[in-house]
Amino acid sequence: MEVIIQATPEEAAELTARLIAARVHAKPTLVLGLATGRTMERVYDRLVSRHQKEGLDFSQCHSFNLDEYIGVPPEDEHSYRYYMNRHLFSRVNVKLANTHVPDGMAEDLRAGAAHYEQLIQEAGGIDLQLLGIGEAGHIGFNEPLSALMSRTRDKALMPLTRQQNAEMFGGDADKVPKRAVTMGVGTILDARELILLATGGAKASILAKAVEGPITAMISASAMQLHPNCKVIVDEAAAAALKERAYYDWIFQNEPEWEEYR
Ligand code: F6R
Repeated sequence: MEVIIQATPEEAAELTARLIAARVHAKPTLVLGLATGRTMERVYDRLVSRHQKEGLDFSQCHSFNLDEYIGVPPEDEHSYRYYMNRHLFSRVNVKLANTHVPDGMAEDLRAGAAHYEQLIQEAGGIDLQLLGIGEAGHIGFNEPLSALMSRTRDKALMPLTRQQNAEMFGGDADKVPKRAVTMGVGTILDARELILLATGGAKASILAKAVEGPITAMISASAMQLHPNCKVIVDEAAAAALKERAYYDWIFQNEPEWEEYR
């Protein structure tokens, strides 16, 4: 794992977008794993701008989103399908048929989840998985106690997570769905590369536990420590509780792989 600290949320999002753009350039048929949430909006804005200004080409890319609320139809503005269409898919040249979001309306959720896993397999697996982190330590909607080997399935959301997402439901946590379909921790770890982006002081404590603490099913983001190709990009506020930041900064300033990004 590498931890890269940028001064501001804007710079952290810019670095994340640059890394994604570099991967798309290197492999136009890239299979992207995508996340929703407020943190990612800045990343998607930057990818859209690269598409418009530099012709960043998503026409051969496929994508798989991490999660979707159960019982919220795709045309509902609160659904993650709606979020993705609005923030990214309708603004770049990805083929909508090549974009996938778990089906939160499936009559048989278990079969729907198994089908999602199968689609990922058929696409050749996920090349690059983008992640955010929730205050409950989740990646995707893998709430505490999610098995580190879990696969796509439905999951009950913690009160803390529903509170965190209340803003998108008019500030009312009771309106946030109680369940979601999410890729499992094991599904996420199967991706060939992980990039987690966290910004803001509200993430500082959980981010430090996920990165520097023990691997535990209580903090599903800590499972990233098992992944051989994993980058964590944070702003100063989210980095505030990290103990070894001098080392992380040294790596970014000195390792050749980061030269073009410094
Ligand atoms: C969303 C997702 C979640 C979010 C996390 C952070 O698809 O998988 O894990 O990334 O809850 O959300 P924000 O960015 O809104 O703080």
